[in-house]
Amino acid sequence: MDNRNKIAIVTGATRGIGKAIAERLLAAGVTVAVCGRNQKLLAEFDHPQAFPFTVDVSNPNNVDTMTKEVLKQFGRIDIVVNNAGITKDNLLMRMTDDDWSSVLDVNLTGAFYVCRSVIRPMMKQKAGKIVNISSVIGVMGNAGQVNYAASKAGLIGVTKSLAKEVASRGILVNAVAPGYIDTDMTLMLDEKQRQQIITHIPLGRTGSVEDVAETVYFLVSDANQYITGQTMHVDGGLVI
Ligand SMILES: NC(=O)c1ccc[n+]([C@@H]2O[C@H](COP(=O)([O-])OP(=O)(O)OC[C@H]3O[C@@H](n4cnc5c(N)ncnc54)[C@H](OP(=O)(O)O)[C@@H]3O)[C@@H](O)[C@H]2O)c1
Repeated sequence: MDNRNKIAIVTGATRGIGKAIAERLLAAGVTVAVCGRNQKLLAEFDHPQAFPFTVDVSNPNNVDTMTKEVLKQFGRIDIVVNNAGITKDNLLMRMTDDDWSSVLDVNLTGAFYVCRSVIRPMMKQKAGKIVNISSVIGVMGNAGQVNYAASKAGLIGVTKSLAKEVASRGILVNAVAPGYIDTDMTLMLDEKQRQQIITHIPLGRTGSVEDVAETVYFLVSDANQYITGQTMHVDGGLVI
């Protein structure tokens, strides 16, 4: 299918990895519903095929409204990237109920709401590609991130199960697990911590948002016809 006829939804597209994914899709000619909570940042997408939708993915009504609106405007949904994510780090003994539930609500339940709301139209189309943005932390674990690790490991389980549910309808579902990528989310690390992390990365550098966007683009493009249920690591070899 020609990219000019494809419609994508990217959550958490206001900055960082989500913005780079949306820009990669737009550069390839895809029409993109750019989703996030910050209207001002969404309005900064200066592209005729970028359509802003203000959505909190942890709110199922918000999500269903967005899906209905995208279908009303464009008639189909070909690509969905569940990228919206937050961290609220703390050691387990100090982690509050809110630290736990807010991270699970956005990172895992948010992706579930989005998948649930787009899956019927994709099944009717008998085609679609979904990518869930997980993390190496969901595979390796990390002290101070039990909530985040649980949400990202959960996304891998969602990916595998949904891939099996919808494969017969021509829908491919994959996850991408970035390593340490330079964005607002990792800005909180000081230079010493950053250098310490780099010593564990075989490729000797942190990743860029483009490194992740390029992999996501491959998975949702026509080049991918036979990969489903997989987690692609974009981590410079951190998890080998
Ligand atoms: N950076 C890394 O090293 C790294 C590594 C592994 C995985 N990841 C994952 O990659 C994804 C993007 O991370 P990033 O580093 O680009 O983070 P970021 O710069 O903090 O951006 C997070 C994005 O998620 C959006 N978001 C947060 N809560 C939301 C909600 N309730 N509803 C809708 N959108 C929401 C934010 O939009 P608002 O403008 O609404 O806040 C923002 O666009 C996340 O899922 C993260 O866990 C990142």
